[in-house]
Amino acid sequence: MSGLSNSLRTQLGPVSLRSPLIAAAGTVGSVVDFAPVGALESYGAAVAKSVSPVPWPGNPAPRIGSSGIGMLNAIGIQNPGIDAWSTEVGPRLAGVAVPVWGSAVGGSPGDFALVAKGLEAAGVAAVELNLSCPNLEGERMFALDGEAAAAVVAEVRRATGLPVGAKLSPNAEDIVAVAGAVVDAGADWVVLTNTAWGFGIDIATRRPTLTRGVGGFSGPPLKALSMRCVWQVHQAMPTVPIVGCGGVASADDVVEYLLAGAAAVAIGTAHFAAPRVGARIRRDLERYLRRQRTTVVELSGGGIPW
Ligand SMILES: Cc1cc2nc3c(=O)[nH]c(=O)nc-3n(C[C@H](O)[C@H](O)[C@H](O)COP(=O)(O)O)c2cc1C
Repeated sequence: MSGLSNSLRTQLGPVSLRSPLIAAAGTVGSVVDFAPVGALESYGAAVAKSVSPVPWPGNPAPRIGSSGIGMLNAIGIQNPGIDAWSTEVGPRLAGVAVPVWGSAVGGSPGDFALVAKGLEAAGVAAVELNLSCPNLEGERMFALDGEAAAAVVAEVRRATGLPVGAKLSPNAEDIVAVAGAVVDAGADWVVLTNTAWGFGIDIATRRPTLTRGVGGFSGPPLKALSMRCVWQVHQAMPTVPIVGCGGVASADDVVEYLLAGAAAVAIGTAHFAAPRVGARIRRDLERYLRRQRTTVVELSGGGIPW
């Protein structure tokens, strides 16, 4: 069906992917609505917007804005809650041309487990745990604390047989410790990373770019921060499967993440300017692999320390 080169195949823990490209959570809606405008055939998986146990309204506008070539957002995980999500999105998952992963968010390990169970029942192929959303009022960010993050993973592991990925934050003081803790608790891979905390101000209105003030910073300038996390985690724990995420806009960016230690690479903000960006990146990546006579698997972790 896909017509993808075999050189794109990769392995993320227990999950085989036909392509190392993953559509990042929150940038392709529920995936089912993105299908008509996106290039889903180029991806190995697509992650739906995070879902909580009950409906969340999100933050008041403005909740997205630009910051140079980067982007600020404080959407606040607006979502209908797992029950409505299962009814609205679940029945349409099977018709999508890519494995759809669910993303769970919540305020406690029990919240995450409840959502993960619901996502499994709705038919997702894997579940990502959004331990690192920077935009939640009064909620601590689990990904800043290895013990707290591990408690969520352990509870989810007990609740579901699905493969589980843990999405971490570039703001963690010790990313290696947090990654180690979630893997010990049963995560099958880590996603490095979610957005970083950022801030901007409009000089005409003198108001912050976002009503919430501080929000999540994404896009090209995030790449160096997320790459740092990938490199450090891979150097410390070479067998831990990693999804690189942050600022990817080209096939060269994907190759960089692979060399640093990622087994797969997620594309996020780039979808807003070009929903079909995945097709271009996939084509350029296939060309690169052909020219270099190599494969994604061979490149993964192939960076050579000085
Ligand atoms: C508008 C917006 C909404 C997002 N919503 C989610 C979300 O619901 N769950 C999640 O895990 N990450 C969410 N993210 C983070 C992205 O999945 C990704 O990790 C981050 O943007 C970094 O990658 P990028 O620089 O390629 O965008 C969101 C990002 C943006 C820009």
